[in-house]
Amino acid sequence: MAKRHILIADDDPSIRTLLRTFLEGEGYSISEARTGGEVIGLLSDNRGIDLLIVDLRMPELSGMDILQRIDDQDLGVPVVMMTAFGTSNVAIKAIQLGAYDYLTKPFELEDVLVAIRRFFEYQDLTAEVKALRVQVGARDPAERIVGRNTRMLEIYKTIGKVARTDATVLVTGETGTGKELVAETLHVNSQRRSAPLIKVACASLPETLLESELFGHEKGSFTSAYTQRKGRFELAHKGSIFLDEIGEMSLGTQKKLLRVLQEREFERVGGSTPIKIDTRVIAATNKDLLAEVDAGRFRADLYYRLNVITIHMPPLRERKDDIPFLVEHFLDKHRFAPGAPPAKITDLAIEQLDRHDWPGNVRELENTIERAVVLAQGDVITPQHLLLSPTSTNRIVDLAERIRSGTSLKETLADVERRMIVEALRQAGGDRDAAAESLGLQRRALVAKMKEHGVLDTSDEPISVSGE
Ligand SMILES: Nc1ncnc2c1ncn2[C@@H]1O[C@H](COP(=O)(O)OP(=O)(O)OP(=O)(O)O)[C@@H](O)[C@H]1O
Ligand SMILES: [Mg+2]
Repeated sequence: MAKRHILIADDDPSIRTLLRTFLEGEGYSISEARTGGEVIGLLSDNRGIDLLIVDLRMPELSGMDILQRIDDQDLGVPVVMMTAFGTSNVAIKAIQLGAYDYLTKPFELEDVLVAIRRFFEYQDLTAEVKALRVQVGARDPAERIVGRNTRMLEIYKTIGKVARTDATVLVTGETGTGKELVAETLHVNSQRRSAPLIKVACASLPETLLESELFGHEKGSFTSAYTQRKGRFELAHKGSIFLDEIGEMSLGTQKKLLRVLQEREFERVGGSTPIKIDTRVIAATNKDLLAEVDAGRFRADLYYRLNVITIHMPPLRERKDDIPFLVEHFLDKHRFAPGAPPAKITDLAIEQLDRHDWPGNVRELENTIERAVVLAQGDVITPQHLLLSPTSTNRIVDLAERIRSGTSLKETLADVERRMIVEALRQAGGDRDAAAESLGLQRRALVAKMKEHGVLDTSDEPISVSGE
């Protein structure tokens, strides 16, 4: 592959030299610019620059102005912004203006390298996905997966790697995290995309109906089977089958499914002729399947068959940095009227979305935005249009998830303690004696804990929590 060409723009020559020496050593080809004017000049000359690393503070044009110019003039160059420590607002703004990433000065050279590598890997992957899309014909852009959180980038990489294999994929995650969307993306990016993706909701049918749904049946195999019928597995021949809510499948059906996965053949219900199929299996669950195995509700052997590749979708509360991107996407997807421009949203409303806990994950966010667009009549969405349920923050998050994400027992206990105190104070209308009593604490102990957790309350202000 040709060397990647990076343009480094900073008015400080020592930074330019440092980055040039280091990155050339890592195999990149480097150009330098001293001012914003030089940057725009070089970009307009089309010198084949693959990535621009630009300092926020520069003479003539600031990094932010450069971003704007790139956008205005359609220069199409991805940007990593360098900002001074403590200017995270600016960094967020930069990302919103289209920068791919930002680096906070002072930085370690290793961090720079990680950001650059991550970018090029991401770019390769999206280029691959785009190429595939072109072959399939225009995919509905409303159905694309949105998010730039590092865990999402990892997921895109996994999808990129496994889409074109026939490996069985298990997609796990809480409700509304995008499991079905991942299944669709896998299928569309596989060689099977010209054949159908067949979906089966395993939880919605009783055992016998589910089996006939999956495997089909012969005429007369049970009372209402008047005709022979093909099952979903047969319909998914050469394509993919999506087994949703697989954790709800009965042990009997699990056994039959295991055989299909092992032997790639089965018989219709009431039939004896083996039917061979060539189907890619994607399964999804919001349950902790290992716990189900332990509880004897899920076959261990099936679990290991399904668990060849697992894609775990993080809950939205653990990737809140994606909220602005998701909001933008949903504003675009849910217009007030066909052809109407997307609604706008205030910073304050975004802040409120950011504070919410999102037990229903991305689906809840999508519904919230869709409703807000209607309430705001397609104009500007303010906090009053969001109608977020206040109680959801009282939910203790999924413990399995906490363990998976490496949250310590101590942190979890502290989190629960803090939330309980806030809630008790809220219920008591700020009366510390009453709150202490409802918590079974002495007033003094409550005050000490409030201090410890940074819980502030003043009688005429709503209780707020600092340090989040
Ligand atoms: N990363 C994302 N980008 C854009 N849209 C998303 C994303 N994740 C989820 N959505 C949207 O949110 C909604 C819910 O997603 P999906 O149905 O895939 O969730 P799920 O994990 O299958 O939920 P459940 O477990 O309840 O079935 C869909 O409309 C989907 O398009
Ligand atoms: Mg689903």
